[in-house]
Amino acid sequence: MAGSEQKGKADLLLAIESSCDETAAAVVNSRREVLSSVVASQDDLHQRFGGVVPEIASRAHLSRILPVIDESLRRAGITLKQLDAIAVMTEPGLVGSLLVGLTAAKTLSLVLGKPLIAVNHIHAHLYTCQMASDRPVFPAVGLVVSGGHTNLYDCVSPTEYELIGSTIDDAAGEAFDKAAALLGLPYPGGPHIQKAAESGDPHAFDFPRSFLRDNRLVFSFSGLKTAIRYTALGQPGSRTPPPELTKQRVADLAASFQEAVVDILIAKCELALKTYHRTNLCIGGGVAANTRFRDRLADLESRTGSSVSVAPTSLCTDNAAMGAIAWELFEIGQFADLDLDVTPGLVRVETKK
Ligand code: KG4
Ligand code: ZN
Repeated sequence: MAGSEQKGKADLLLAIESSCDETAAAVVNSRREVLSSVVASQDDLHQRFGGVVPEIASRAHLSRILPVIDESLRRAGITLKQLDAIAVMTEPGLVGSLLVGLTAAKTLSLVLGKPLIAVNHIHAHLYTCQMASDRPVFPAVGLVVSGGHTNLYDCVSPTEYELIGSTIDDAAGEAFDKAAALLGLPYPGGPHIQKAAESGDPHAFDFPRSFLRDNRLVFSFSGLKTAIRYTALGQPGSRTPPPELTKQRVADLAASFQEAVVDILIAKCELALKTYHRTNLCIGGGVAANTRFRDRLADLESRTGSSVSVAPTSLCTDNAAMGAIAWELFEIGQFADLDLDVTPGLVRVETKK
């Protein structure tokens, strides 16, 4: 269908998200107002494994996707026939999970005769900053920091993003989840580390901050993960048992760990702003909900004079409302065909000096 044919009166879009372990659907109008946003979390299914199990995730998406879509339409007070377009997040993510959302979206597009729009999940995370702002937040440097990603982008416009930096091992959110698990805190770990850190000393332990003074836009959290493991549970082969994990020790470990992650994230945001000569910074993804990180971002804003936009807390973790970015693609006529496929992987950037 031609883009110009679709514009004009179009006003209601259904967005579908199933890239990882949340099954989500949302109805968003062309003013980017969220009429409904339904997220069926799978945390309970993955909790005992301390992380997402892909096969369990895709099976759970299968049983939840249709009820979640139905509920999003019901809450928005509309029927399928009123929709003007179907958007779906097709990259990056777990292949089996992405395929469930894509198949649902293609079926609706075909049956309803409405255009299909492919959305990049990470770009959508950054777009939440625009959704929360009444002024343009792009061009900007963007940081998406979640359980699966720690990526920096040069965001030229709401539809043009260049990957300029990423982690060479774990994502920051994954490090939060693993650190929480070894401290005996529930999954997903980020919010629990944040809570425990409130009564801890961020300087109690001097954890490593990889690449902190390096001029490359790269992150690494595996050394930090190992450091907290050895400090909390003891060095492998050591005859001396580690001190008991009292509530205070857990709080101190959590606070020191959180501070190390935040130091790294803040330093790389500043480096990216300088390197790409940008004055706007956009932050999205689950870890953007972290209150210590948000405080430090406010400090960065006042210290550097940059304008910092952080995703609203309600839109930090995975959701379909951020599929509102599809309106940007709709407006430039960027529609997908029914042979659309998923793109699970993320292209990495060169990390050599
Ligand atoms: O964006 P998201 O829902 O999923 C991915 O695309 O990965 O992010 C989930 C991640 C988890 O690792 C979780 O521990 C982390 O975001 N997270 C937090 C906080 N809330 C969620 N990390 C630190 N502090 C938080 N308050
Ligand atoms: Zn995400």
